[in-house]
Amino acid sequence: MAAPVVDKNYLKEIERARRDLRALISSENCAPIMLRLAWHDAGTYDAKTKTGGPDGSIRHDQELKHSTNSGLKIAVDLCEEVKARHRVITYADLYQLAGVVAVEVTGGPTIDFVPGRKDSMVSPEEGRLPDANQGARHLRDIFYRMGLSDKDIVALSGGHTLGRAHHERSGFDGAWTKEPLKFDNSYFKELLNIESDSELLKLPTDKALVDDPKFRCYVELYAKDEDAFFRDYAASHKKLSELGFISP
Ligand code: HEM
Repeated sequence: MAAPVVDKNYLKEIERARRDLRALISSENCAPIMLRLAWHDAGTYDAKTKTGGPDGSIRHDQELKHSTNSGLKIAVDLCEEVKARHRVITYADLYQLAGVVAVEVTGGPTIDFVPGRKDSMVSPEEGRLPDANQGARHLRDIFYRMGLSDKDIVALSGGHTLGRAHHERSGFDGAWTKEPLKFDNSYFKELLNIESDSELLKLPTDKALVDDPKFRCYVELYAKDEDAFFRDYAASHKKLSELGFISP
């Protein structure tokens, strides 16, 4: 599909949709699943073939059925309420705007948002998103394919400061932090805390961030310096949200 014309009217609708999303996300307490939706739409990007990425394709049943996307229909349906009021905005822009607003309303950093993404009618094949049961090598394979770096991997994993796993969706259960509706650096503090509350979740891919020496440097930095985490998170989230659009 063609790229939207980002004129004065489009920008106005973006600002209106931003307000609607703020209200919706606050009233439904759905920031975590909205962030996950934005990440799963964008995280299919393949820099070599320039396919996948933040193109709204996750709305298609075929892609929602991928096992890693279990539960995300809830977020797609919630976004539909906003889309109905702002038809001109592409799904691709709407989902990324929802991700940015989710971080903002839970107390995270402001993420620069540039509109103009095209919607795609085709979904990528299953298997492009990370498998939580694997380790550092797999994380690098997946994120390097998107054109992202070790720093991006660790900073973006900080998204797990929000939300929780649901047994019926992923086979895992529980939250990573004690306040899963607050965006802060507690995910990294808990990762390094050997006496961490055993109720808190650590996926094999989360543990890989502590075990791999290169990843661990960033984990230690973000655990002690929340400003550094917010600065790097905002930059990495922007990159993720612009894969194949503005980023290479
Ligand atoms: C939830 C895996 C990276 C944001 C989850 C869940 C898994 C998972 C298994 C639980 C799903 C469920 O049962 O509902 C992974 C793996 C990653 C990764 C293997 C590789 C690094 C990210 C990134 C972000 C993110 C980069 C955002 C920047 C979230 C959020 C939730 C979540 C917010 C909670 C959703 C909810 O509460 O409904 N992730 N994730 N994840 N993920 Fe990730």
